Amino acid sequence: MTTSTILITGGAGFIGSHVVRLFVNKYPQYRIVNLDALTYAGNLENLKDIEAAPNYQFEKGDITDEPAMQELFARYAFDGVIHLAAESHVDRSISDPLQFVKTNVLGTANLLNVARKAWANAFSGKRFYHVSTDEVYGSLGEEGFFTEETAYDPRSPYSASKAASDHFVMAYYHTYHFPVVMSNCSNNYGSHHFPEKLIPLMINNILNKKPLPVYGKGENVRDWLWVEDHAKAIDLIFHKGKEGEKYNVGGFNEWKNIDLVHLLCSIMDKKLNRKEGESAELITYVTDRPGHDLRYAIDATKLNKELGWKPSLQFEEGLEKTVDWYLNNSEWVEHVTSGNYQQYYQEQYEQRS
Ligand code: NAD
Ligand code: DAU
Repeated sequence: MTTSTILITGGAGFIGSHVVRLFVNKYPQYRIVNLDALTYAGNLENLKDIEAAPNYQFEKGDITDEPAMQELFARYAFDGVIHLAAESHVDRSISDPLQFVKTNVLGTANLLNVARKAWANAFSGKRFYHVSTDEVYGSLGEEGFFTEETAYDPRSPYSASKAASDHFVMAYYHTYHFPVVMSNCSNNYGSHHFPEKLIPLMINNILNKKPLPVYGKGENVRDWLWVEDHAKAIDLIFHKGKEGEKYNVGGFNEWKNIDLVHLLCSIMDKKLNRKEGESAELITYVTDRPGHDLRYAIDATKLNKELGWKPSLQFEEGLEKTVDWYLNNSEWVEHVTSGNYQQYYQEQYEQRS
């Protein structure tokens, strides 16, 4: 592809903003259109550094809105779509499952359908990339890994909605020969991560000497990946992935939640000149998340062997960079935690304490 117009959905969110930045900077010959509804999780401040780039355009809109998506496809004649827009927080999916069905299932199905009609069966040179999660595979015991062949077994309304969207994507491939590619990634971390998720929430609470709410016994395991490495994987898969295939993306980096929280406390004690162990005193065990998946671990061998991708950063280095970003961007944190974040936090954590 030389001159391409690419639609990135959810580009004002955490991962989407890293993908938009990468594409805008790396491909000056592309036109990058960022479509985002700017929900609580979407923030244009995430893209301040590239907002004036000549190859970048923002469009506010909702992926569930069929006429709006038809108009957008007609206006831009997209060559490719990278679809990240979603409701993404498991705890919110437990309180409000239907919002997840609407955005993640209906929104994805709507986007697929609008793209299929806009491309009117002339699919050559077109590509629809769906960004998904490892949570569709369910929960592992103490051993084993998720591969691309692992059967889907989602357990939360969030993962069920993502699994349904994945099935629609593959159904479009098989039924219409629609040119899809897909990836399922493990937990991301890095800058611009909304502080309802574990790492940024803990950083913010450590900084403000607030209790650090660890669900259950803190024994659950997640496989953490530097968000910029995920963005690079998306770039590779979008350009070189095989049509109709899916790729697992992961950090080869498993941590028990409680060990991760201790590591963050120790990094921040040093940075904030607190005595070693001071922040860890804030750790508070709270009521567990219902249906809490025990362990996720990705086998990303296919992506490594076929496309040569591997994570670039050691976790300790990535966590230090992440903490530094939050300490240097207190204004961003203040903006995203004002307004309805306070109410969300109170409702979530009142029930747990
Ligand atoms: P996020 O919640 O930070 O961002 C989601 C973005 O989508 C926001 O900008 C929001 O405004 C936008 N959005 C929501 N509903 C919309 C709608 N109806 N129309 C248009 N835009 C809408 O999410 P994230 O963590 O950046 O995740 C991005 C994608 O990657 C999601 O599909 C998620 O399932 C997937 N994923 C996330 C992780 C992770 O660790 N965060 C890991 C694997 C996969
Ligand atoms: O695995 C990929 C998924 O990772 C993505 O698809 C999701 O969009 C993303 O939100 C993330 O889901 P998790 O549920 O794993 O992430 P979260 O940050 O919410 O929680 C990580 C772990 O930390 C999980 O075991 C629950 C626990 N936790 C979380 C919070 C917010 C706590 O112990 N305390 C907390 O306050």
